Amino acid sequence: MAAVTLEAVHKSYGKNHIVRGVSLTVADGSFLSLLGPSGCGKTTTLRMIAGLERLDSGRIAIGGGEVDGPAAHVPPERRGLGMVFQSYAVWPHRTVAENVAYPLERQGLNRSERDARIREALAQVRLEAFADRQPHALSGGQLQRVALARALVGRPKVLLLDEPLSNLDAALKEELRAEIAALRARLGTTMIAVTHDQAEALALADQVAVMRAGVLEQVATPQALYAEPNSPFVAGFVGGANVLDGEVRGGAFVLGGVRLELPTAVGDGPCTLVLRPEDAVLEPTGTLPLAARLFLGATTEYRLQLGDVALRVLGPPHPFAQPGTTVGLTLRAARVFPRELR
Ligand SMILES: Nc1ncnc2c1ncn2[C@@H]1O[C@H](COP(=O)(O)OP(=O)(O)OP(=O)(O)O)[C@@H](O)[C@H]1O
Ligand SMILES: [Mg+2]
Repeated sequence: MAAVTLEAVHKSYGKNHIVRGVSLTVADGSFLSLLGPSGCGKTTTLRMIAGLERLDSGRIAIGGGEVDGPAAHVPPERRGLGMVFQSYAVWPHRTVAENVAYPLERQGLNRSERDARIREALAQVRLEAFADRQPHALSGGQLQRVALARALVGRPKVLLLDEPLSNLDAALKEELRAEIAALRARLGTTMIAVTHDQAEALALADQVAVMRAGVLEQVATPQALYAEPNSPFVAGFVGGANVLDGEVRGGAFVLGGVRLELPTAVGDGPCTLVLRPEDAVLEPTGTLPLAARLFLGATTEYRLQLGDVALRVLGPPHPFAQPGTTVGLTLRAARVFPRELR
């Protein structure tokens, strides 16, 4: 197993600066999720760690040894990595076992060693019985497990996963997510997973690195990221908070002619309010128009209208108020950021 370190890594394509000074340490045996919106540079970062893309400047080390930088460029196959790509990249005309065998082809193993390694990798993803199947006869979840087995067969020190669950439906996603967590506990391999799904990042990772336009905005444990986002962007991306631009006046947040009393004292001025849907309490009387009510099972989401913007608040599951009427709102917790952090 091995730690992975990035120091001031830069990458441009032509005039576009895609990755802009990323520094990051992934501890030996830990799981890092790289989280961010589409196009922010996640795959590019992962491909640089893998050695599939050269850096413009900076340095990458795996297990303490420099693999990319001024002094070195270690080719991908000598970095001790396994990788699962954003698309499955499973060859359609090879069986499951042949697909999984591919990374071993140049390792000079004899046949029985090779077969044992393939069996081991397939067992790790619970596909022992599928060795001779063709990919077209597999489900999406099984295909993704073939890709995982192929990444594991070389017994990597570091496993890189690019959106491993994005092609799967909701139920399969949860199943494979639990499987990756179990695999990780069993193997102790260092893992770096790219995702734009905040729930996936929070559920699996020891550390989450939130990326925005090629820059890391915040690196923290899932708990810390949720409790103490350092910008409205992170708060909006992680946990689905409401992010509203308005103004603080006399201890209240003012937007669209509505005043919401803040739970803690904040100085007057333009600001961005971050309010989690679960951090506000609906009151039966008030002046806020209730635009919509969505039953979600365990809770119900209420959409309130603040001028032109909608505010999402979780409320009691029983019908609390009819859309079209007005309600009141008390904030239990909220974060107020200076506008320029937006
Ligand atoms: N080989 C390339 N040549 C030119 N531009 C590229 C190349 N690869 C990626 N880009 C651009 O770099 C940016 C970041 O791409 P990247 O694939 O790293 O994003 P991402 O965060 O993984 O997004 P997604 O969540 O959609 O997969 C995009 O604007 C993309 O168009
Ligand atoms: Mg990508």
